Amino acid sequence: MPAAPEGRRTHEKVSTVSAVSSRLPVFPWDKLEPYKKTAAAHPDGIVDLSVGTPVDPVPELIRRALVDAADSPGYPTVWGTAALRDAVTGWCERRLGARGLAHTNVLPVVGSKELVAWLPTQLGLGPGDKVAYPRLAYPTYEVGARLAGAEPLVYDDPTELDPAGLRLLWLNSPSNPTGRVLGKDELTRIVAWAREHGVLVFSDECYLELGWEAEPVSVLREDVCGGSYEGVVAVHSLSKRSNLAGYRAAFVAGDQDVLGELLRIRKHGGMMTPAPVQAATVAALGDDAHVREQRERYARRRDALRTALVGHGFRIEHSEASLYLWATRDEPCWDTVGHLADLGVLVAPGDFYGAAGERFVRVAFTATDERVEAAVKRLG
Ligand SMILES: Cc1ncc(COP(=O)(O)O)c(C=O)c1O
Repeated sequence: MPAAPEGRRTHEKVSTVSAVSSRLPVFPWDKLEPYKKTAAAHPDGIVDLSVGTPVDPVPELIRRALVDAADSPGYPTVWGTAALRDAVTGWCERRLGARGLAHTNVLPVVGSKELVAWLPTQLGLGPGDKVAYPRLAYPTYEVGARLAGAEPLVYDDPTELDPAGLRLLWLNSPSNPTGRVLGKDELTRIVAWAREHGVLVFSDECYLELGWEAEPVSVLREDVCGGSYEGVVAVHSLSKRSNLAGYRAAFVAGDQDVLGELLRIRKHGGMMTPAPVQAATVAALGDDAHVREQRERYARRRDALRTALVGHGFRIEHSEASLYLWATRDEPCWDTVGHLADLGVLVAPGDFYGAAGERFVRVAFTATDERVEAAVKRLG
């Protein structure tokens, strides 16, 4: 660290540096470390079902597209290549039932987590503005509100919120952590309410391709948004559907005024998806076969873990979609985390996702077949 300038005290510098991070919650995964150590001490090794990171290979056609674009000496653009925008609009129309999307309705992002975390800031939200998200939710919605200095607000039903000062409403269907899916009628009702009150809707749909006992629906579907994208944006990620978490490939699609504003800001901020990743994304969005194959793997692992957990005395709630089982033994979540860590199985405590999850754990089925089999044996 460079020496503090003459006449300036070091501790002032330190307090400036910590001003933003002090608005943020404790990074939750650090709290799981002791349990990870316990699980890792199992003679047959840890079965890590906590974070939910993909473990299966990146499909060959996507790797080939990445490698073929490896000679990319120039700067990529924030808006992406025309081929990428075509791939996104085409996929949204084919897979989501969107109609008439233009290039102005899409924008690539560098993985969806950065978008979630920085969206309120990039929208210019701050003190006095409210950002709402589900009571049980991916923690980054709250982080985004806090980074901007806006007020985070949780909901059970967003249409029961006081719309005064509410500027951004996050939806997440299928939900992380519960796997719950919002039906078409519910989404339609929420979008109508938000438009009536001038509240911008961002719908995080990164698990949309992973429905098991429900068919997830996008806000971009014509019969949900009414064929207009005003006030509505969907967020999609290739991390889960295509095993591309390591590539950082995602995009948003919807309201062109909102996306135009984000594009202007993100150009100044240099938030570019690397050119080889753009090319890989085009290949991934053009192929459904690898998604089907990956779904089949997850379906088998989900069935095996679900049966083993129920046999071990767990109750599973929701979990009709996504990559998680939302499970409880009707005890505090950290007791369950400790019990499973003793068996060499690591899961995420429900309170990472909000106090309402304090008696649940989230069990990801993103482990290899061999590790899932090991977990099943230990639970038996
Ligand atoms: C609900 C939700 N949104 C967004 C993300 C971020 O995904 P990525 O940054 O890999 O696109 C995740 C990751 O787990 C998630 O669960």
